[in-house]
Amino acid sequence: MENNIVEKIIKLKKEKNAVILAHNYVTMDVQNVADFVGDSLALAQKAKTVEADLIVFCGVRFMGETAKLLNPETKVVLANKNAGCPMADMITADQLKDFKAEHPNSTVMCYVNSSIEVKAESDICCTSSNAVKIAKSVPEDKTILFVPDKNLGTYVAQQTKHKVIVWDGFCPVHNNNFSKIDVEKVRKNFPDYKLLVHPESLPEVFNKADIVGSTKGMADYSEENNKIIIGTEVGLLRQLEAKYPEKKFAALSEKAICVNMKKNTLKDVLNSLENETDEIIIDAEIAKRALKSIEAMLELS
Ligand code: 13P
Ligand code: SF4
Repeated sequence: MENNIVEKIIKLKKEKNAVILAHNYVTMDVQNVADFVGDSLALAQKAKTVEADLIVFCGVRFMGETAKLLNPETKVVLANKNAGCPMADMITADQLKDFKAEHPNSTVMCYVNSSIEVKAESDICCTSSNAVKIAKSVPEDKTILFVPDKNLGTYVAQQTKHKVIVWDGFCPVHNNNFSKIDVEKVRKNFPDYKLLVHPESLPEVFNKADIVGSTKGMADYSEENNKIIIGTEVGLLRQLEAKYPEKKFAALSEKAICVNMKKNTLKDVLNSLENETDEIIIDAEIAKRALKSIEAMLELS
């Protein structure tokens, strides 16, 4: 049955000149049919340059929207229209407008995990792999308003000299599933392993890591090293275990599962290729403003 679906996907992909982009957190069966798998930044960079008639995006909505913003001529469909990011929903454009009014003359940095309307209200966008670099490009006398992730914002504040005011948003997967008790446990059970932690985690967790980074940062580290504890959503761990069966990996917590990323199934991918749904449509005026904050980020990346 699964083989049958995979064969159909491969055939249709060719016929329709389609490209499948997938995030590191989707299930392995979906990662295996993708043309490119990566973190938010790498997926955005890929979407911008890819030449295809159709992009099928396997991830969450803000990622598909970013792909469409960067490649407006190509039809972009989200494999599963219900795959959203709860953190991106933790701030609206109106809330951001009020936040800006409370702190005039600040620079708004928005994490890419945000709506297109929020990006349109921001000065510069960032991902987890370039947040510190982007912040360092902002003049030091400027206050940074960081939205929506309080944890990544706190990490940025620790790594730069800026005054950073963070919005109270968070990723339920990283914020709620990793604690300092989990860190103590893995340190005891795997004393000679390196601990890699995503900056969407709590400061009490990322401050105890050996390396803090994006999912691509973790994948790159794993290429060269062995004995690694992965402190992010388990999809990346499954990818690394499959890619490097000879290496030793452990999870900071197996409970860290993003149900939204897991909504993308092989059946959805096939359906997207067959019916070219659900297409991402973006308001042109908002797109123009949102693109500015994304392009500003890409220039620095
Ligand atoms: P990365 O850009 O590090 O892959 O992170 C995306 C994300 O949604 C993490 O929860
Ligand atoms: Fe959003 Fe967290 Fe899922 Fe990433 S892991 S898509 S931040 S809910």
